[in-house]
Amino acid sequence: MAKTATLKIDDQELELPVIIGSEGEKAVDVRKLRSTTGYITYDEGYGNTGSCQSEITYIDGEAGILRYRGYPIEQLAEGFSFEDVSYLVIYGELPTPEQSAEFSARLRNEAPIREGMVRFVQGFPRGAHPMAVLSSSLNALGAYHSQMASNNHERDLKHFDEAAAIAMAKVRTIAAHSYRVVRGKPLNYPRPDLDYSENFLHLMFSEPYEEYKATPEVASAINLFLLLHAEHEQNCSTSTVRMVASAGANLFASTSAGVSALWGPLHGGANQAVLEMLNTIHANGDDGSRFIEAAKDGKARLMGFGHRVYKNYDPRAKIIKGSFDKALESLGITDDPLLDIARRLEAAALSDDYFISRKLYPNVDFYSGLIMNALKIPVDMFTVMFAIGRMPGWIAQWHEVASNPKSRINRPRQVYMGPVPRDVM
Ligand code: SDX
Repeated sequence: MAKTATLKIDDQELELPVIIGSEGEKAVDVRKLRSTTGYITYDEGYGNTGSCQSEITYIDGEAGILRYRGYPIEQLAEGFSFEDVSYLVIYGELPTPEQSAEFSARLRNEAPIREGMVRFVQGFPRGAHPMAVLSSSLNALGAYHSQMASNNHERDLKHFDEAAAIAMAKVRTIAAHSYRVVRGKPLNYPRPDLDYSENFLHLMFSEPYEEYKATPEVASAINLFLLLHAEHEQNCSTSTVRMVASAGANLFASTSAGVSALWGPLHGGANQAVLEMLNTIHANGDDGSRFIEAAKDGKARLMGFGHRVYKNYDPRAKIIKGSFDKALESLGITDDPLLDIARRLEAAALSDDYFISRKLYPNVDFYSGLIMNALKIPVDMFTVMFAIGRMPGWIAQWHEVASNPKSRINRPRQVYMGPVPRDVM
């Protein structure tokens, strides 16, 4: 494999170093390009641009491979808790039983939010989208934990373990509160005897007159959903977290920005868009072919399909799809019309040359909404669930930026295409 890349430009010939990743990824290092040639690279959407070197997640998009800290997602999806996988993503190793118990205890202790924060969340109007509540509340957490949100990374890192637990524990509590506030329901308080997923379901669905008891199967389905969303290298929202962190911003401000980016329908908002598409097809009683035709005519995107990196089946979609029958059976659901529509839509798209030639396969969002729908999680909470799942990844990526003494502020260049110099008079 080449050690350098030769660039011939104008009357120069330049040898650019090549960086090889631990899994064989190859990158041409252009950090000296502008200072030696005056040229910059141009890559709108960053499809060919490595923004950092990272040790957290490896994706092989052509082969449909996803690994958290070297462990295949298929193995982690088998019997690991979201808490333990979050520990792996954040700290780099699977926890020992003692570390696991200590981390879970910390998450339980940090589950409640201050009464001032409760009032802040209750200030949102009925009908507000929970993602708006979540992104603003996450940033507000920094006001309640200012000793770890000083915007001085050296100082903030001294409280990293506590900040990580606060962000993970409270994002789940705030999410459940946002669900209830926008529906005018009274808030629940976390219970110290429940694990992460069970507590989330209790916070969401318990009523003053009736405690919600999650069945092991439902809690297991939530655990799997969260675990599959825990990390995904430099996606749009994670890159946003790193961008904000690169300026020296604290963990809460950075992850709040990540929530905002995730909300977009081309990113985490796709799971909500998929369910809305399936519900429309079901309500109209048609076969959904008009969504495929609209996608082929360039009038709309087939939501839940395609991926910037995966040019093969998203391994997470495969796992969710595979766990479906077990989840439905455990929920006592014999048939799910939306699942039948999704399966028909997938089969139609995967046999259509438009999708085949562009390597457009179902991504994690195509099936994830169906699981949440079966669990009676409302559609406007789907992307919120994604944000809860992604929090350990954002924390780990923020830490990579904050703890790197050579980290520089992210400041891309541009090619100016505006008016040439002119005078006002
Ligand atoms: C997530 O990056 C991550 O890791 C994200 C994520 C994570 O875990 O963080 O995996 C989570 O965001 C998954 C993606 C969820 N989004 C959707 O399902 C929305 C629908 N998908 C598309 O909008 C699209 O596929 C993207 C946004 C996901 C990727 O966009 P790209 O890489 O910019 O794709 P592109 O525009 O380069 O597409 C190449 C071609 C184009 O056609 P041509 O110009 O070649 O004729 O494929 C077409 C696109 O029009 N295309 C689609 C399509 N996706 C791409 N056509 C119809 N339907 C689609 N879904």
